[in-house]
Amino acid sequence: MDYSSLKIPNHVAIILDGNGRWAKEKGMSRSKGHEEGFNNLKKLSKYILSKGIKVFSVYAFSTENFNRSTEEVDFLMNLFVKGFKKEKNYFNKENIKVVFSGRRENLRKDVLESMDELANLTKNNTGGILNICLNYGGHFEIIDACRKMIKENINPEDIDEELFNKYLYQDLPPIDYLIRTSGEIRVSNFMLWQMSYAEFYFPNTYFPDFNEEEFDKAIIEYTKRDRRFGKIDYDKK
Ligand code: IPE
Ligand code: IPE
Ligand code: MG
Repeated sequence: MDYSSLKIPNHVAIILDGNGRWAKEKGMSRSKGHEEGFNNLKKLSKYILSKGIKVFSVYAFSTENFNRSTEEVDFLMNLFVKGFKKEKNYFNKENIKVVFSGRRENLRKDVLESMDELANLTKNNTGGILNICLNYGGHFEIIDACRKMIKENINPEDIDEELFNKYLYQDLPPIDYLIRTSGEIRVSNFMLWQMSYAEFYFPNTYFPDFNEEEFDKAIIEYTKRDRRFGKIDYDKK
């Protein structure tokens, strides 16, 4: 779709949800749902970043997701390793810079290696940032930033929003548009600091079905939103 008449957010974030239910409804295993979710993420990143959106953040695995069965956690970790290795040339060719947010502790060595490899390969790319949140928790991100500032003896008086942002996992612009697929209406400990003034969108579509057309609909909706940031336009009729 042509986006020239639409309002383009600078930073879009998606809580990709509904992989399991997508699979269940089709009589497939949850694993199949995760595979389809990963394939969709690959296609969607290219599409989204080709539309003038500068940053695309995705919630791939929360710190809380470690509470799932060992079988499911292992499957997801293996999928990340396999997927990052297999698709690293794809992301590189598309000029996408891939970065990661989250705690490195608790992640397997091979997972960390595949993440580092992908991030290193794409670090000089200029076609948009794909921020993959993996072993990510919004509270932990804020706590980790505070710990780092204290360790570096930052003067409390010097802390402002700009400095604080630099101590987060990635120094990214604020989220303009937050999408959560699958009909769940909650943020589940996702980028709490960055979403302070985001517009929210909660489509019922499960993530594996959230395709380009669904994203177009989301941007049409975003274009209708009136972002006020606390101000009133007194001249507006
Ligand atoms: C999102 O899909 C992927 C992850 C959280 C890793 P889910 O696995 O949460 O799918 P549902 O919510 O059970 O359908
Ligand atoms: C949030 O989805 C985490 C990710 C999308 C990675 P969940 O499916 O884990 O969230 P809850 O449990 O429904 O809140
Ligand atoms: Mg879920």
